[in-house]
Amino acid sequence: MPLSRRSLLGVTGAVAASSLLPRPARSASLAKIRIGLLLPYSGTYAALGHNITDAMKLAAHEHGDKLGGREIEWVAVDDESDPAKAPANVNKLVVGEKVDILTGPVHSGVAMAMMQIVREEQTLTLVTNAGAQAVTGALCAPHVFRTSFSNWQTSYPCADVMLKAGHKKVALVFWNYGFGQESMAAFKEGFLKGGGAIVKEFPVPFPSTEFQANLSELASLKPDAVFVFFAGAGAAKFVKDYAAAGLREKIPLYGSGFLTEGVLAAQGPAAEGIQTTLHYAEALPSAANKKFREAFKKATTREADVYAVAGYDTVNLLSVALGKVKGDTAARKELIAALETARIESPRGPFRFSRAHNPVQDIYLREVKGGQQRVVSVALKDAEDPAVGCALVK
Ligand code: PHB
Repeated sequence: MPLSRRSLLGVTGAVAASSLLPRPARSASLAKIRIGLLLPYSGTYAALGHNITDAMKLAAHEHGDKLGGREIEWVAVDDESDPAKAPANVNKLVVGEKVDILTGPVHSGVAMAMMQIVREEQTLTLVTNAGAQAVTGALCAPHVFRTSFSNWQTSYPCADVMLKAGHKKVALVFWNYGFGQESMAAFKEGFLKGGGAIVKEFPVPFPSTEFQANLSELASLKPDAVFVFFAGAGAAKFVKDYAAAGLREKIPLYGSGFLTEGVLAAQGPAAEGIQTTLHYAEALPSAANKKFREAFKKATTREADVYAVAGYDTVNLLSVALGKVKGDTAARKELIAALETARIESPRGPFRFSRAHNPVQDIYLREVKGGQQRVVSVALKDAEDPAVGCALVK
């Protein structure tokens, strides 16, 4: 049942109480633009949060550390990928810190709590990772955009890939929360329609990385292949455990691309042969991708990944839109229209928003070979999320 505004105030105490006071007037031309970052800096998704943040700051730096002529003040909160703490953390940024624009989170459960508050507060929001369908579906809003993906986009195309490879009986293993559930539902939609069958589902509580019992059962079940959702530190461990259990050579492993994103070095030879679908691949040959990867490496000494791409694109889109309104965030209608029509060359390819404010993008089939993520093909061209229930799509 949705939380009411009153219960949110109760949860967040002193911070939320300040929402009863009038907002201070702010000179759009002079004040720094305050950008909220609601991201994980601890826990299993910490590396994802850091890559999004550092790529946002890299893009800002490339624009002279200004957006629409205004200097930037970053206001970050560690959301710990904990949905239970999300209302308090969102209120801290939106109501307490009065950020002009909210960005984040990584975790779909955190995003669901965030949506409720930003819809009430009318906060301009750019979702930088979480794929929860409702963000650009039933809860879509004119002032909410997503620069990453929907769960459907990253999982549905893999069904066709696996059917074409001749896999008819498949097992599913996934973290059992919003993203995992929606990812599996999208995969099943395509897989069952194409004549495949699901032999067993293995939901794993988030963020547990205890996989042994499931791996033993998979070994005796012998499905044609396995489709999974894990990400970050959990993905690194699952892939290593899968290989250590002797399953890598016997039962091909597939997933949405998060399975190998940002964790390939940690997975080592255990990741060889894994095929995944995602809207980005490090090997994309475009000039925009090469430039981005070099700049990110130089700035951080780390390799860029899909998470960094979303952070980078978020700030580049904001730069275009805020440039159009000369930094005036009070010009809401114009700012939203400028975001809706913004076009950028993303490291993933040309970027544009759908009517539901989700990216329309190619989904690539990738395969790990020789420790590298190779691009095999485009699994789905111009993939547009179905945006079920979104009032912006008529
Ligand atoms: C999500 O919870 O939406 C999520 C988290 C991590 C990922 C992808 C999606 O890598």
